[in-house]
Amino acid sequence: MLHERIHRNDLLQRVISREEAASRIKNGMVVATSGFTKAGDSKEVLPAVAERALTHPLKITLMTGASLGHGTDGKLAEAGALAMRLPFQVDPVLRRKINDGEVLFIDQHLSETAEYIKAGHFPPIDYAIIEAAQILADGSIVPTTSVGNSAIFCQLARRIIIEVNTVVPLSVAGVHDIFSAGTYPNRTVIPILSPDCRIGRPSIPVDPEKIEGIVITNIRDSAAEAASGDASTAKIAGHLMDFFSWEVTKGRLKESLQPLQAGIGKVANSILRGFVDSRFHDLTMYSEVLQDSTFDLFDAGKLNFASGSSITLSESYYDKVFGDFGKYKNRLILRPQEISNSVGVIRRLGVISINTALECDIYGNVNSTHVTGTHMMNGIGGSEDFARNSYLSIFVTSSVAKGGAVSSVVPMVSHVDHTEHDVDIIVTDEGLADLRGLSPRQRARVIIENTVHRDYRERLQSYFERAVKRGGHTPHLLEEALSWHRSLQETGRM
Ligand code: COA
Repeated sequence: MLHERIHRNDLLQRVISREEAASRIKNGMVVATSGFTKAGDSKEVLPAVAERALTHPLKITLMTGASLGHGTDGKLAEAGALAMRLPFQVDPVLRRKINDGEVLFIDQHLSETAEYIKAGHFPPIDYAIIEAAQILADGSIVPTTSVGNSAIFCQLARRIIIEVNTVVPLSVAGVHDIFSAGTYPNRTVIPILSPDCRIGRPSIPVDPEKIEGIVITNIRDSAAEAASGDASTAKIAGHLMDFFSWEVTKGRLKESLQPLQAGIGKVANSILRGFVDSRFHDLTMYSEVLQDSTFDLFDAGKLNFASGSSITLSESYYDKVFGDFGKYKNRLILRPQEISNSVGVIRRLGVISINTALECDIYGNVNSTHVTGTHMMNGIGGSEDFARNSYLSIFVTSSVAKGGAVSSVVPMVSHVDHTEHDVDIIVTDEGLADLRGLSPRQRARVIIENTVHRDYRERLQSYFERAVKRGGHTPHLLEEALSWHRSLQETGRM
């Protein structure tokens, strides 16, 4: 069985236990691992590192593609094994440690980590721990359910530990497209002209001499939360479909739209499902995470092709998709995240990006990361790679959070991830604000009129009118601008 997975006899000799692999990771090391939105992460070695850290002094810098599954980030954080973490996470325990200041966190655009590593802005990588479906005769590896930053990690790490996952079907081989644009000053173009362009090779080149050990696993990716959607997301999807129909009527879009990107989270995932019963067809995706909704769109005959960096599925969708991967494989490509999130490619393809905001303000600035401006939720992820460079940059959010105690539209956002210059459309369950071609004062009127929950609309209108009396290109009452957040902190309500 292992011969099917490891095609070199010399490497078959290097199979070691998870504990042995974990013992190679020493205090102070920089470790880089596969894993992007829970998909294709280390299921044996990193959890073993967390166990080891309970009894040995062990604190590492850990970089990944994006978030890990199986509570691994939480286990590492709880064991005190993380000095620094980047570029993204979603774990509640790690989130608490970050917000308590115990773990240093670099919240980074997902396209940029590889750039920083190549440029030497980060210290050298001591170990890369990479999940693979197969190791081929030339030493190259076939990744599993994500590519993320694995290719650059393998290229630049001093040593590599591979986790061969036997639960991932061998049929994943061929879905990956590994390409590097090289380094300055001799970088080349990324010749992607449509989402289905294959430009690279199907496996990650690896120098077999650097492979120090191979650990075998049969653990599946962590299941994503099944995104059933609710009345609010159904309304948001409805507003978006009406908007796209209007754009088709005006001749600005065709019924196949432009390549779609949808962010993580249950809001974006359930909104994408809105396309299933829509008039739109022959859709494509140029995205980063492909979630359950991508496969609903394939099954509904709405989607022709999807390009991403990972496939992150709920339990039942995992069986459906990987139980019969041949059904989907020739309509999918998984790319390194520096390619899936390449700002040049996003601009060239004219992507329509749909990402989720925690809150937005009356001028269209968006906060996706920091609750009350201070407390990290997950991170910016790839949302700004797409938002700044998309043909249409759309942000969605329910008009209220926490049972109505929080308005998602506020006088001034308490932290800015996406400035007003990067945001074209804001959609809540209340309606849609089309901000294209509007000046700040016009934007405020459209946002207040269309997106604010009725419980907060009058107060926001009053804020804006009083601010306008003071004047300014972007009028504000500085003594009051963050008073809604202060009230939330003091009373639990805005
Ligand atoms: N203030 C405080 N809390 C808020 C809030 C606000 N304005 N808006 C939402 N929340 C809370 C919700 O109550 C919920 O909390 P809970 O988990 O305790 O119930 C949590 O934030 C998540 O919100 P939810 O409505 O369930 O949406 P989601 O699962 O779609 O996640 C984001 C929304 C913004 C957190 C998520 O999309 C994200 O991390 N985005 C940034 C990264 C990104 O966009 N990546 C895309 C490319 S990788």
